[in-house]
Amino acid sequence: MFIKTLVLSNFKSHTYSSYQFGKTNHFFGDNFTGKSSIGDAIVFGLFGVSRHGYKMYIKDYLQEGATTMYVEMIIQIHNQDYTIKRTMTAQKGTTSVFLNNKPVKEKEIERLVGDYKAFVYCFFPDFFPDEDKSSSRAFLIDHMFSERNDYDELEKEKARIIREQKQIHSNITFYEGQKVVLKKQAIAMVNNPDPILPIEHVNAEIKTIQTELEKITNETQEQIENGIELKSQLKSFIEQMAELESDVRLSGERCPTCFQPISSEQFETITNLKKTRYYDLKKEIDKVETGIGNAQENYANLLKRKAQKEQRLQTLQMMISYQQNINQVSQHSTELINVENKLHDLTIKKKALSDELKRMKHRQGVAANDYQNQINQHLTHTSIELFKVLKNGELRPDFQICYKNRTYRVLSNSEKIRCVLEIVSLINTFTSYKYPLFLDNMEGVTHLEPPEDIQIITATVKKGVPLTLKVKD
Ligand SMILES: Nc1ncnc2c1ncn2[C@@H]1O[C@H](COP(=O)(O)OP(=O)(O)OP(=O)(O)O)[C@@H](O)[C@H]1O
Ligand SMILES: [Mg+2]
Repeated sequence: MFIKTLVLSNFKSHTYSSYQFGKTNHFFGDNFTGKSSIGDAIVFGLFGVSRHGYKMYIKDYLQEGATTMYVEMIIQIHNQDYTIKRTMTAQKGTTSVFLNNKPVKEKEIERLVGDYKAFVYCFFPDFFPDEDKSSSRAFLIDHMFSERNDYDELEKEKARIIREQKQIHSNITFYEGQKVVLKKQAIAMVNNPDPILPIEHVNAEIKTIQTELEKITNETQEQIENGIELKSQLKSFIEQMAELESDVRLSGERCPTCFQPISSEQFETITNLKKTRYYDLKKEIDKVETGIGNAQENYANLLKRKAQKEQRLQTLQMMISYQQNINQVSQHSTELINVENKLHDLTIKKKALSDELKRMKHRQGVAANDYQNQINQHLTHTSIELFKVLKNGELRPDFQICYKNRTYRVLSNSEKIRCVLEIVSLINTFTSYKYPLFLDNMEGVTHLEPPEDIQIITATVKKGVPLTLKVKD
């Protein structure tokens, strides 16, 4: 791009100024004569924004007291001349833009003159190093490697792999936990050495035993009741016997009611009756005692049988629960195998992902190297580092500008200018516009070697001199 003419009307302190530019153009003038305003006017004319890209500040460019303002330029792009005129009114505060005297939309101008950022990075060369690191870095990468930004593609891939790795890691933790639980459960289950009968047999036997146990319980109850009955009979017989034994009446005694003396015949009859009764009672007591003995024996036998049956019942019930355990164990071992298979698959996947990540990192290293080489081959004393190598050897995106191995921040004013001129040459390799360059406040710089193939406008303070343009070539 070549700016052939520039006309300012009511632009800041310029009520009306008109300039014809050549390849190298030097403005001289005292303070406040409007040197820096030339740079502002060119950015405004082309893009309708302030030098830092703000639309809202352009209203301040309207000269105090004026109602309208315009900047008009004839520019040459790829050997073709274009007239661009931008006007602004006080009331609306908006601009209108004309291309070759026809009102046009902003997009059309942008198509013609390119991107604001690329322009200002070339036109005001100190902007690029002052920009925040990520924007300057993104600008270079987007413009130089827009078609194949391998590094960023690989970065996205890496992020995806790392996400997958995290997922796999949490899955592995989950299944490891499940494995431990299943193993514990399996050990608890396999602990019953009893022989196993078919389950139908076991169930049938349990039913029989339960019926038998019911019968035994009933019989036991009968024996208890029988025993109680016999014991109460025995008690009564023993009492009767005791009564009989205590009744020791002698011959010649008197009757206790009528006080008549008992005759010896009567006494003998009584004694015989007592004897018969005594023997009868003795027989009854023997019979009842035998009955009690039998009842006790029966009772003991019943208890023994009950205990045997109950023991068998317990064994059978254990057989059932073992059978159930066995089913559970086999179910369990299937689950355990599933979990182990899953863990195996996950471990293989984990390994594959970590290999893939290594490959990505390697490819990123190659891409980063390639970027650095491509960028730095256009620079002489300046170098731009787009990556930082971490202690572990990994690369991190970064952005550092150095000149003769010194970081930009510590450079002298003229070194900074030399450094940014190299960067401008680099930017011009991919913009194809070869934008002009505006170097303001040049009074401190004694000599410069600006790029030869671009238009240069400089501004230098010169005491007591009104704004003057000196054109070379
Ligand atoms: N809207 C405006 N109307 C009138 N004058 C303005 C307006 N905006 C800025 N100015 C003035 O224009 C003058 C020129 O500004 P400019 O920055 O171009 O001067 P300069 O020649 O670069 O000065 P220096 O040598 O101090 O850098 C300044 O005095 C500034 O205050
Ligand atoms: Mg100035």
